[in-house]
Amino acid sequence: MSVDTAIQLDPFALARALSGKHFIDGEFRPASGGKTFPVVNPATGETVAEAAFGEAADVDAAVAAAVKAQKDWAKRPARERGKLVAECGRLLTERVEELGRLIALETGKALRTESRVEAGVLADMFTFFGGLGGELKGETVPFNPTMLTMTVREPVGVVGAIIPWNVPLLLMAMKIAPALVAGNAVVVKSAEEAPLTVLRVVQIMNTILPPGLVSILSGFGPECGAPLVSHPKVNKVTFTGSVETGRIVYKAAAEKLIPVTLELGGKSPMIVMADADMDQALAGAIAGMRFTRQGQSCTAASRIFVHDSIHDEFVAKLTAKVNTLKMGDPLDEATDIGTIISQQQMDRVKSYIAIGNGTAGATAHVCSAMPTDPKLAKGLFVQPHVFTGVTNDDRIAREEIFGPVCCIIRWSDYEEVLAAANDSEYGLAASIWTRDLKAAMDAVTRLEAGFVQVNQNLVVQPNLSYGGVKTSGLGKEASLESMLEHFTHKKTIIINMK
Ligand code: NAI
Ligand code: MG
Repeated sequence: MSVDTAIQLDPFALARALSGKHFIDGEFRPASGGKTFPVVNPATGETVAEAAFGEAADVDAAVAAAVKAQKDWAKRPARERGKLVAECGRLLTERVEELGRLIALETGKALRTESRVEAGVLADMFTFFGGLGGELKGETVPFNPTMLTMTVREPVGVVGAIIPWNVPLLLMAMKIAPALVAGNAVVVKSAEEAPLTVLRVVQIMNTILPPGLVSILSGFGPECGAPLVSHPKVNKVTFTGSVETGRIVYKAAAEKLIPVTLELGGKSPMIVMADADMDQALAGAIAGMRFTRQGQSCTAASRIFVHDSIHDEFVAKLTAKVNTLKMGDPLDEATDIGTIISQQQMDRVKSYIAIGNGTAGATAHVCSAMPTDPKLAKGLFVQPHVFTGVTNDDRIAREEIFGPVCCIIRWSDYEEVLAAANDSEYGLAASIWTRDLKAAMDAVTRLEAGFVQVNQNLVVQPNLSYGGVKTSGLGKEASLESMLEHFTHKKTIIINMK
C-alpha cells in the first residue's frame, strides 16, 4: 500500500494515491473493517478519493504502536528529538505547493489566499517547536540544605489529537510538534471532511521519525474519535472543534481522569472607535472576518462594533472591498474566495442567513458575484453577507455561524460597547481599533478573551500562546509554555544528602 513520496503537484492524482488508507506504525494500512467513505471536492461535488473508515480496532493498533515507540523516543535527548521535528519542518517546507494544492482540493479553500499560506505555516510550526527541545527544563527548590530537591519535566505518554477541517494542517501541527518534542507519541484522528493532506504530512514525517511515533486515522467522531479519547493507553487528549463535541470529549476524558486541551468556538468582537484609521480597520475587518476562508474560523471577527459617527462610511467601504473579492475555483490562482467545506455546513450557514434576513431591523449586504463557470455549478459557494442593523442580542450576533456572515453593530457609548463585546458565551479573540493609547489600554485589560489585539487581527502565530476563555476552550497552544503545560508533567525529586 505504498505511496510515492516524490513531490506530486497534481492534487487529483495525489488524492487517488492516498485513498483508502490510514498511516499506522510506519506504514499505510486499510481500515480494519475494510470500509471507506468518500472525500468530496466541494467546488464540484465530485468524489476525488475514498478515506479509510477508522474504528476501534484501528485505534487499538495505532495506540499500541504509539506506546511501543514512545518508550525509546522519551529516552532520546530532548534536543535530538527537537532536531528531528525541525527536520520534519524542513521536509514540509519543500512541499508547500503540493500540500497547498491538496488542501485546496479537499477543503475548497482558495489556493492563493488560504491553502498555500496554511501549508507554509504548518512547516513553520515544526521549525519553531523543533528548536525548543532544550527548554524542557525543571527547577531546583530550596527545600532543605541537606536535600537536593528538584523537578524534572517528563512526557505524558501517548497523546490523542482530534482535529477539525477548517485549518487541519496548522491545527495538527500545533498539537503534534510540541507533543513530540516533549517526548510523547501521538495518534491523530483527522476530520472526516479533510482526511488527505494531513495523511500526506504524517507519511512525510514518518520518513524520518521512528515508526509508530505518529500515526493518523481517518473516520467519524463516534466510531473513531470516541474510542481514541476513551482508550485506556491514551494519556492526554488535545481537541479542536465545536463546543458541543468538546463537551463530549471532556466528559469522556474525565472518566479516565486524563488532562485535555480544548480549542473551541468563538464570536470574536472587533471594536472600531471613532478615531480609528479607517483603511487599517477595513483591512483588519476583512482579514479578521476571514472572508477569504468563507468565515470558517473560530477566531473570525464576526461581531464588528462600529462607532456611530463612522458607521455608514465603514459599511459602504467594507462592502465595496468585499465585493472585489473573486469567488471561484479554489485551485485557480485568480480566486480569492473558495467554497464552504460540506453540504452540512452549507445548510447550517444558509439557515443563519435566513435567520439574519428574518431579524427585525437587520439588512443583508450581499457581496461578491457567484461563480459562473458551469463546472462549478454544484460547488458549495455562499456569497459573503454583511448584516447591518444588528444588535448584540440577535441570534446571528450570539451564535457561531462559521460562515461568511458578519454582523455590524452600531454603537455610541464606550461602556455599553465594551459590555456588549463581553456579553457572549465565547472568549477566544477580541480587538480594538483606535489611535488613542489610553482607550486601547483600557480595552485590552477589560476585554474577556484569550487573544486581544490593538489595530490588527492576526491569527495563530508560533511562539504566542493561543486559546480561549469561557466556552472557547481550555488551555493554550502554539507556545513554549503550552508545550510545557500540556505535554509534560512535573516530577518532584528529593535526594537526601545526609
Ligand atoms: P466537530 O466538533 O463535531 O468536529 C471536530 C472533530 O471532532 C472532528 O474530527 C470530528 O470527527 C470529531 N468528533 C466528532 N464527534 C466526536 C466524538 N464524539 N468524540 C471524539 N471526536 C469527535 O465539528 P463539526 O461537526 O465539524 O462542525 C460543527 C461546528 O463546529 C461548526 O459549524 C463550527 O461552528 C464549529 N467548529 C469549530 C472549529 C474550531 O476551529 N474551533 C472547527 C470546526 C468546527
Ligand atoms: Mg460534528
